[in-house]
Amino acid sequence: MTVVTAAPLRPAAAIDFGASNTDIVVRDGGSTRHWTLPTDGQPDEARVRHVLHAGGVSARDVEWIAVTGGNRALLPSAIDGRVLHRVDEVRAIGRGGLALAQLESALVTSAGSGTACVAATGEGAHHVTGTGVGGGTLVGLGRLLLDTVDPREIDALAQCGTDTTHNLTIAEVLGGAIGSLPPETTAVNFGRVARHPVEASREDTAAALVNMVGQVIAVIAINAARAQQMPHVVIVGHLSDLASIRRTFGLVAKFYGTTILTPDAGGSATALGALLSAEQLLRTGA
Ligand SMILES: Nc1ncnc2c1ncn2[C@@H]1O[C@H](COP(=O)(O)OP(=O)(O)O)[C@@H](O)[C@H]1O
Ligand SMILES: [Mg+2]
Repeated sequence: MTVVTAAPLRPAAAIDFGASNTDIVVRDGGSTRHWTLPTDGQPDEARVRHVLHAGGVSARDVEWIAVTGGNRALLPSAIDGRVLHRVDEVRAIGRGGLALAQLESALVTSAGSGTACVAATGEGAHHVTGTGVGGGTLVGLGRLLLDTVDPREIDALAQCGTDTTHNLTIAEVLGGAIGSLPPETTAVNFGRVARHPVEASREDTAAALVNMVGQVIAVIAINAARAQQMPHVVIVGHLSDLASIRRTFGLVAKFYGTTILTPDAGGSATALGALLSAEQLLRTGA
């Protein structure tokens, strides 16, 4: 009798060189570790060593390294004899989002510095749409409006503020609901302050900012899922680490009669997806 057992997973690493953050996932046997560093320029051999070292890992500790994001063409094909597998970012986003949400197919949106919406299935992934509005917009406008570039500070402020100090609701503009959208839905982001000056606290301004960025992403993700006839919407990326942003995603989903999944450790999705894609490529050649 032949007993077929899955080969033990060999130690491997994956690095996602994002515009804001570099995420590293290392798998050794059954356990997976993830850590994050701020991105510091385009990837090169020294940065690969540095980001692995930050988690106590060297290239020699793993069998291969998957890389995605950034300008991967700048990297050598091997470091310390360990092959670097370059993984297409769209594929990595899709694969990682499905793995974290434990789904077979979904519209996976990466809410990172910018936003990319990817239709993902077990067979692969393709880019559907996206927007330049993302976490970088939150931070950039945070500098202009709140005098901070700390996303966690913006998040904390937003949780104590009221967005309608700046925004106009549908009820105020139209007198009632429109379609399936309830009267308290935002009709015009920053529309009240467009009409006249307002007395707004930093908390209120942060709430309006988070509200706008989160709404744009959630509406695009929901519409992309509908266009692709995909029932599940998953949002990953470090922007979804912020509780105020997740709350906005939840409200938009409710208004549109759907659900948005924001799996834990969503910031690790693209690196994890690169690891899983490279593993599949090595196993099956596809
Ligand atoms: N602790 C944090 N450090 C940096 N960015 C964070 C943090 N928490 C949330 N963010 C948000 O995450 C965004 C970056 O998301 P990320 O998924 O890392 O994108 P990218 O892959 O483009 O670097 C930032 O623009 C910021 O708004
Ligand atoms: Mg990233």
